[in-house]
Amino acid sequence: MTARVIPIARQAPAGAVPRIPRDAAPADGTLADTRGRRLHDLRISVTDRCNFRCTYCMPKSVFDKDYTFLPHGELLSFEEITRVARIFARHGVEKLRLTGGEPLLRKNVEDLVAMLAGLSTRGGAPMDLTLTTNGSLLPRKARALKAAGLKRVTVSLDSLDDAVFRAMNDVDFPVARVLEGIDAAAAAGLAPVKINMVVKKGVNDGDVVAMARRFKGSGHIVRFIEFMDVGSSNGWRMDDVVPSAEIVRRIDAALPLVEAEPNYSGEVAERWRYADGSGEIGVISSVTQAFCATCTRARLSTEGKLFTCLFAQSGHDLRALLRAGHDDDEIAAAVGLVWSERADRYSEIRTAATARSRKIEMSYIGG
Ligand code: GTP
Ligand code: 5AD
Ligand code: SF4
Ligand code: SF4
Repeated sequence: MTARVIPIARQAPAGAVPRIPRDAAPADGTLADTRGRRLHDLRISVTDRCNFRCTYCMPKSVFDKDYTFLPHGELLSFEEITRVARIFARHGVEKLRLTGGEPLLRKNVEDLVAMLAGLSTRGGAPMDLTLTTNGSLLPRKARALKAAGLKRVTVSLDSLDDAVFRAMNDVDFPVARVLEGIDAAAAAGLAPVKINMVVKKGVNDGDVVAMARRFKGSGHIVRFIEFMDVGSSNGWRMDDVVPSAEIVRRIDAALPLVEAEPNYSGEVAERWRYADGSGEIGVISSVTQAFCATCTRARLSTEGKLFTCLFAQSGHDLRALLRAGHDDDEIAAAVGLVWSERADRYSEIRTAATARSRKIEMSYIGG
């Protein structure tokens, strides 16, 4: 009998409750971790569920009918999420991204969007408020999300070849319906729409140029993502990774590219423009060109644990602090302490052994 892999999300210890420093100064904007990295993005997972079973993220062999997702009572409420986001804004966060799982499966998620849209950055500017989705529910929800204050969306789409895409999402979901979702987002004004394609060698790398060509000139920005060893269940092997340099080379040969400057320091994607001025693409090279040195992202899991790295093995239980009656100053101080002690740089120190180690699943921690 083969041993069943139990995802770490189900085995994880409760997560340490962060310490509240006794003489904490209020959040004052000078927060940096041990490597001098500030806090810029908060990625909020609103559900660990998804209606897809992408083979690189929620393989059916693990996420089957016996898999236990988090019960509703374990989830942070919208009020709790908004409170945490407000506290992070005090520490300098300027971008909020809702993720999952599939965030549009969370009931009334547009109400949460409306609550988060009411927050401002420390400098008084509106937050960059965005969401990563598989697109399946966008035809129904795009307009309500825009009306609630969402600024833009990122849609995952791994191939334009229907057979390849259906096999990768593993629930037989057709390309045409994701394209409808992308159109609905654009029509609602959730722009620029970004399109994430995870590239796996021998599976969908033959579709890279077609994907670039399809969206060239559309105003949408396709980003090609190296397949990562996130979680413990996707069977990652270095041999399955197509280096971003190779992707750029292939696209450039067909559709000439010129390198573009980052929009901001710490941007995940490396930007390339079409030489004829018809738009841009991005490549995300977590495996071959780690970007930990400028990583300014914190992650809040569905049940309120703070993770300071996508590849972390454990989180910090903010929900325990929220539900123990601490005030915002105390929680802000605890978050500040966690961040100031942060030393994560997983992608810089990845080895074959770390790739095999037990890590939190991406559908739980948020993409
Ligand atoms: P925008 O610049 O706001 O569009 O967002 P983004 O570049 O953060 O893009 P997005 O949130 O869509 O992230 C794209 C993908 O990059 C994610 O789905 C992950 O696969 C990967 N990614 C994002 N952040 C990290 C990170 O901190 N570490 C690693 N290793 N991968 C990341
Ligand atoms: N490697 C790279 N990207 C991944 N994503 C999910 N799992 C992986 C992985 N193993 C991406 C999805 C989506 C976002 C939520 O994360 O394609 O765009
Ligand atoms: Fe769902 Fe996105 Fe994971 Fe695919 S990558 S299983 S759509 S959460
Ligand atoms: Fe940030 Fe961890 Fe990703 Fe490095 S591996 S970029 S530290 S989340």
